[in-house]
Amino acid sequence: MSELTQSEQKKLVGFSAIDLLIDKKLLLSGMKVGLGTGSTAMPAVQRLAQRINDGTLSGIKAVATSFQTSIMCEDLGIPVYTLNSREIGGQLDIAIDGADEIDEKNNLIKGGGAAHVKEKIVEYNAGLLVIIADESKLVKDLGTQFPLPVEVIADARVPVTLALEKLGAQCMLREGVRKAGPVITDNGNQIIDCIWQRNSEGTSSLDPAAMEDIINDITGVVENGFFTKKRPIVFIAHKNGTVEQR
Ligand code: A5P
Repeated sequence: MSELTQSEQKKLVGFSAIDLLIDKKLLLSGMKVGLGTGSTAMPAVQRLAQRINDGTLSGIKAVATSFQTSIMCEDLGIPVYTLNSREIGGQLDIAIDGADEIDEKNNLIKGGGAAHVKEKIVEYNAGLLVIIADESKLVKDLGTQFPLPVEVIADARVPVTLALEKLGAQCMLREGVRKAGPVITDNGNQIIDCIWQRNSEGTSSLDPAAMEDIINDITGVVENGFFTKKRPIVFIAHKNGTVEQR
């Protein structure tokens, strides 16, 4: 059998996760569901819509983490609310999303699609966080290969960059594609992407849990893409067509 491409793995894990969560009764009719952003989360949203349309699930209330996801929900007929809506009341039963990097303790980097602020608000307020990813997202150390996104208020760009450099990061302002100048997030802010070097032994001493708080303490930072405070269930799709839970 030929190996699955990355995009086939994303679809496999998105579809399988929804079906497995239904089978395990972790995703039930009437639940309030946070829906992530990106090319792995979108197949999960599509599968959720299919399982609503085939009558398996009813009364699902979704909260989207980005414009991308709310448009997808509207297109597919999934009722979408905000975390502040009366119907949601600030708390979700479950949230499902992709990730950019996953370490051995299931700490995450998210925000490759610049959606990590709403993702963190939604996912830290969900009873259960489910992360879905292809096997390329598994890493030993966070932040040494895929850059950590830090969303900043535009006026704070230079002082925040200096503070991040003092923390050992190499920083780059994220540039738009088919838009001149920086990426502007769904919240109207900018993104500084940060990468840390491994030491001469090829290891990293970066502590993602400590760094999540230290970076958020810098004035002008809205939120960073380390997700360490909510232990997720993780589903990983492999090239050989299997899906692993860890
Ligand atoms: C969006 O900002 C991100 O947090 C995504 O969840 C993450 O970048 C994973 O994206 P893909 O599933 O597209 O790789």
